[in-house]
Amino acid sequence: MFKAVLFDLDGVITDTAEYHFLAWQKLANEIGITIDRAFNEKLKGVSREDSLSRILAYGGKSDTFTADEFAALAKRKNDNYVEMIQAVSEKDVYPGILSLLQDLKAAGIKIALASASKNGPFLLAQMKLTSYFDAIADPAKVAASKPAPDIFIAAADGVGIDVADAIGIEDAEAGIAAIKAAHVLPVGVGSPDVLGHDIAIVPDTRDLTLDFLRNVWENK
Ligand code: BG6
Ligand code: MG
Repeated sequence: MFKAVLFDLDGVITDTAEYHFLAWQKLANEIGITIDRAFNEKLKGVSREDSLSRILAYGGKSDTFTADEFAALAKRKNDNYVEMIQAVSEKDVYPGILSLLQDLKAAGIKIALASASKNGPFLLAQMKLTSYFDAIADPAKVAASKPAPDIFIAAADGVGIDVADAIGIEDAEAGIAAIKAAHVLPVGVGSPDVLGHDIAIVPDTRDLTLDFLRNVWENK
């Protein structure tokens, strides 16, 4: 049986992936770059700085800004995003997530956060979920961000469980790549066309039950 579940946050625990998109879209517009939802799939799970680099490359503006201007743009996006998430509350936890956390706790399975977001601890507190988490991996302390495996390895380390005994849950292409690279068992939330046809996927968080995870584990 698996001994830990390593959760992504944005797009898995709550709908903040949408706020990230809206905040990036606003910033991109301000600098004359148009991004759509299809392009946004390439930003999901990707760190703030890497996301901005991808947007600038997409708009042909990779060499337009100095390092200070780049930092100011990243800050502007985050300030806007932080404003958007002030109203996030318990009501915004995706269906099925709270009962999954409760069932994992009752079963003695460790729970860790493996989010690329520096706003993760704030969001867990807003949703009153902090006490369920045995560890929160710090994205500021890992050498490489998703799709690199570092944050999932750090999350498993944080709860003292071997990566081979953990399941990772993700909604992003970069996140699934990170889970695979960490040798954690991936479970996707979303569409196989985006996340791959070779892993267990649920279309909706309602399907993320302890029984479902047990079944995925037994059939891996
Ligand atoms: C990930 C999101 O969880 O965190 C990305 O999927 C986001 O969209 C990344 O860019 C970094 O988040 P933040 O809040 O630190 O800018
Ligand atoms: Mg995500």
